Amino acid sequence: MKIEDCRADFPITRDLIYLDSAATSLTPTPVVEAMVEYDLRYRANVGRGVHRLAAVATHRYRDARDAIKSFVGGDGGTLAVTRNTTEAIGMVAAGLAWQKGDRVVTTLLEHHSNLLPWLRLRERGVAVDIVRPDAGGSLDLADLEAAIRDDTRLVAVTHASNVLGTVLPVHEIAGICRDRGARLLVDGAQSVPHIPVDVAGIGCDYFCFSGHKMLGPTGTGGIWMRRPDLEPLFVGGGSIESATADGYTLARGEERYEAGTPPIAGTIGLARAAAYLREIGMGAVRRHEERLAIRLIDGLAALDGVTVVGADTPGDRIGVVSFAVEGMHPHEVAQVLDEASAVLVRSGHHCCQPLMEHLGLPDGTVRASTYIYTTRDEIETMIATVEELSRRVI
Ligand code: ALA
Repeated sequence: MKIEDCRADFPITRDLIYLDSAATSLTPTPVVEAMVEYDLRYRANVGRGVHRLAAVATHRYRDARDAIKSFVGGDGGTLAVTRNTTEAIGMVAAGLAWQKGDRVVTTLLEHHSNLLPWLRLRERGVAVDIVRPDAGGSLDLADLEAAIRDDTRLVAVTHASNVLGTVLPVHEIAGICRDRGARLLVDGAQSVPHIPVDVAGIGCDYFCFSGHKMLGPTGTGGIWMRRPDLEPLFVGGGSIESATADGYTLARGEERYEAGTPPIAGTIGLARAAAYLREIGMGAVRRHEERLAIRLIDGLAALDGVTVVGADTPGDRIGVVSFAVEGMHPHEVAQVLDEASAVLVRSGHHCCQPLMEHLGLPDGTVRASTYIYTTRDEIETMIATVEELSRRVI
């Protein structure tokens, strides 16, 4: 499938210019149909009953989970279905056997979901070292390397910033972690939807991502583990091999992390979303968004009174561009874009309040984020609308 042919599958794009895909993507018709098919034609619980529908549902659910694992290049490891990236990261924070004096290294580029779980560990005597980017939002790998010590237990970094759109060199970071004996968690919420990802190739230990940002349904996501070495957050139905009145034996593999009925329709929908992206090709997705991001940055940076945040950050980027309009609150800009041109963007802190403080932007930014259904014309409309409103303010 060609990227320019996919738009008809996203009915919302007929009436609106949706530039908020970093918050949640739109969902194409085939994904919705796959979920409806489960609900209307073979709905049953999975991994439990032996009747015919249970067999079909179990088979399709497990195939879907395997397909999601393959999509991120994780065939050799374990992939458990979660509700979202936040839950996946929480599983690592809660599931490692922390000792007083352990250290976690993270960065100030992180979404709250990859920062607050580590800050909370301070209550248990774990030290947290936060590496800061420079004033432009650029992270120096040497600073990160210097922060990783022999007693660093875990390094937790984002793969792609949800505010600046920059892609971090996670492969190099994995090499440093290996040398120092630290485990690496990568927050892939913003990378899996937009760039080719190969978790085994990266060399991380845990990789967390969300389904709803990659054309899939809300309430789905995943954690990939090189080894299933985390203590499960929950135990109960479906997650054990056997139980007695005195105790239980956990199931092997992914099931031990999926206590209770999983999001069955959601996982089937997410696998359909992964297949949809595969049909387009993640290389094509990446190139399409890179082109749009470059045009967005150039177009906005050329306007008087408009500052693109992190525009000079070197390296790869996804189609996420943050900016500020002099004299206007980000929410005001977002509201005008919606009312004037039906352009929908996110505004505010983007769940990255410490980063905003660090960049000297206490009110946050306006953020435009693209995806496969975004067109060049839509980007031009957005730039023209920002130009008009920045003239009114100046
Ligand atoms: N993490 C999502 C965002 O950046 C919600 O908007």
